[in-house]
Amino acid sequence: MRILIHGGFFSESSQSNETKLEKQQALIQILEKAKDYLTEHTALQTSIYAVSLLEDCPLFNAGIGSQIQSDGEIRMSAAIMDGATQKFSGVINIEDVKNPIHVAEKLMEEDDRVLGGSGACRYAKLSGFEAYSTQTEDRKKEYLSKKQSTGTGTVGCVVLDQEGKLAAATSTGGKGFEIPGRVSDSATIAGNFANQHCAVSCTGVGEDIVSNGLATKIVTRVTDGMTLEQAFKKSFSELKPYDGFAGAIAVSKNGDLYFLESHPKIVYASYNGAENTVFT
Ligand code: GLY
Repeated sequence: MRILIHGGFFSESSQSNETKLEKQQALIQILEKAKDYLTEHTALQTSIYAVSLLEDCPLFNAGIGSQIQSDGEIRMSAAIMDGATQKFSGVINIEDVKNPIHVAEKLMEEDDRVLGGSGACRYAKLSGFEAYSTQTEDRKKEYLSKKQSTGTGTVGCVVLDQEGKLAAATSTGGKGFEIPGRVSDSATIAGNFANQHCAVSCTGVGEDIVSNGLATKIVTRVTDGMTLEQAFKKSFSELKPYDGFAGAIAVSKNGDLYFLESHPKIVYASYNGAENTVFT
């Protein structure tokens, strides 16, 4: 069993050591809950569970605590991918739900598995998701002072379960101050991808991640025989020509865990089958 979760990037310039410690503690608590959960659930179920806990934590930019867009509204995106079945589902720019990842989960049952904007909102409402404002005082204050993103980040999780199955889940409140309608990478295969060989979740600037096709590219390279390290290093080197800002986490079918960031510092916590590691 392996789990790796990330909470996006930590901004050294605009976040305090206290926030860093809070994030570390939150990641470890969520990792511990996810480890317990994984003993009785699949990789896919556990990745959804871990991301829902990250969405519930206002320290991270997903679900509660999501960034506010240029028009004062919050629009969130989330996706899951089951490595075993290669099924992907997601929501793009959904509003007024507490856990976008659970709407993505519900969409796994549908033929139409990726919904955007008003369609995603209508689907959530018709499926019984209660209206919920994910706006927090901190995000509102940032928005009112027109401060740029403070480095609160997209969240994600990759899991290898006891049966050797892999899954990835990712959720985001976006960049903050974006033009309404902008599409994040998180509910695309550039930001979240898995198959029977490898599962990847990304954070960073969506435009850079989409330009690189990062998650799907890493998974394809591992499928074709590269190690995680080789696949990450080659794919991240391809961000360099445009100074792409990205981080990614991965687990392979062999149980190898890996993460890389183009700029410091992605915050993550992992369980390698024997011990926990937390990094912020
Ligand atoms: N990675 C999140 C975003 O750019 O929307």
